[in-house]
Amino acid sequence: MGKESLSITDNRTGKAYEVPIEHGAIRGMDLRKIKVSDDDFGLMSYDPAFMNTASCRSTITFIDGDKGILHYRGYPIEQLSEQSTYLEVAYLLLHGELPTADQLSDWAWKITHHTWIHENLKKFMDGFHHDAHPMGMLVSGVAALSPFYPEAKNGTDAETRQLQIVRLIAKMPTLAAFTYRHSLGMPYAYPDNDLSYTGNFLNMLWKTTEAQYKPDPVLEKALEVLFILHADHEQNCSTNAVRSVGSSQVDPYCAVAAGVAALYGPLHGGANEEVLKMLQAIGSKDKIPEFVKQVKEGKAKLMGFGHRVYKNYDPRAKIIKRMADEVFAVTRPNPLLPMALELERIALQDDYFVSRKLYPNVDFYSGLIYQAMGFPVAMFPVLFAIPRTSGWLAQWQEMRADAEQKIARPRQLYLGSALRDYVPIASRNSEEEP
Ligand code: ACO
Repeated sequence: MGKESLSITDNRTGKAYEVPIEHGAIRGMDLRKIKVSDDDFGLMSYDPAFMNTASCRSTITFIDGDKGILHYRGYPIEQLSEQSTYLEVAYLLLHGELPTADQLSDWAWKITHHTWIHENLKKFMDGFHHDAHPMGMLVSGVAALSPFYPEAKNGTDAETRQLQIVRLIAKMPTLAAFTYRHSLGMPYAYPDNDLSYTGNFLNMLWKTTEAQYKPDPVLEKALEVLFILHADHEQNCSTNAVRSVGSSQVDPYCAVAAGVAALYGPLHGGANEEVLKMLQAIGSKDKIPEFVKQVKEGKAKLMGFGHRVYKNYDPRAKIIKRMADEVFAVTRPNPLLPMALELERIALQDDYFVSRKLYPNVDFYSGLIYQAMGFPVAMFPVLFAIPRTSGWLAQWQEMRADAEQKIARPRQLYLGSALRDYVPIASRNSEEEP
């Protein structure tokens, strides 16, 4: 192999530069030495939506989008979803290694014993209208944790950081379940320490008058798998929000609230809700070709298809699709499933989707399972936010420990007006307005 560097000739000046290449990248700051004059600011790279910009070095999650591969800390997602539990995966993401039996039981004990939230947070929830979107309530609920734990501002102390991580992972299902109970007008159900992480979440959602809620083991396991699949996905929109907001050294509650807010968007965690709306709007299998035609004409979007990184089948979607039958065996089958399968079949044969490498993403089938399990569509992004919290925190922790990271602050290319004098209102000519 040749030298690990890039030779650049600036045709404006004829000057030549050599820029080192490390890990397949050049440093953006190395471009700044490329100037036309001494007072020139220096060359920048222009990359809206970060299409080709690495914002960090990370050792957490690996994705090969062309091959459809996803690993957490080197472990394939297929093995983790089959053999692990969500709490073990959360430990792996945060600590870098799988826990020993003692470490896992200590970790599970800590999480289990931090699930309660301050009673005043219930009053906060009560303030929302009955029809408030649960994700809106969750964004606010997570941010509202911040003033309850003022010591969390001390991000330099490792022990303090660990405590906030435990609190956030533990309290997320409680807040999420409370948003659901609030929307139903039901009294909040408190955590049950005898249940698993996902079993307890189901308890807080659906417990009514029974002395102890017994989660259905198939649904408990299915949720475990769905939580593992959603735990991290390297530098996606919400993780980037957590890292960016967290780079100001705000406490992790505020940083994670930013992640929840980003996840709320229909192009991100809100997409599975959109998939169901889309399938319902299509109505029947015979209308699929007409819908696909509209997508190709740019009049509609095939929700749950396409991904910034995956240019192949999303490995998470494959696992969810396989799991659907197990779930539907204990719930009622989702009548929208045959339509989704047909839509996928038609799309994957169509040159529009093939040439653009558009395949089903994680959201294409997850909504169908959540709906069959009894979740209203508005809860779907909430179900995503719970497990993604461990990924956000692993990324936040990595960012805080990275000596190269500073407050995140992109540059811009200013294309607005040149310097001009203020015009008093009486002197402005309305006819000159655009
Ligand atoms: N339906 C129809 N066409 C699509 C779709 C889609 N779902 N996704 C991309 N395309 C087309 C674009 O129109 C574009 O076509 P063009 O080259 O003729 O202009 C081409 O495919 C490339 O798409 P981009 O928008 O450049 O891809 P980008 O990486 O910016 O977008 C995104 C990725 C946002 C996920 C997009 O595919 C999309 O909107 N999908 C639907 C929403 C969705 O399912 N989001 C969930 C993503 S997974 C997650 O967040 C957990």
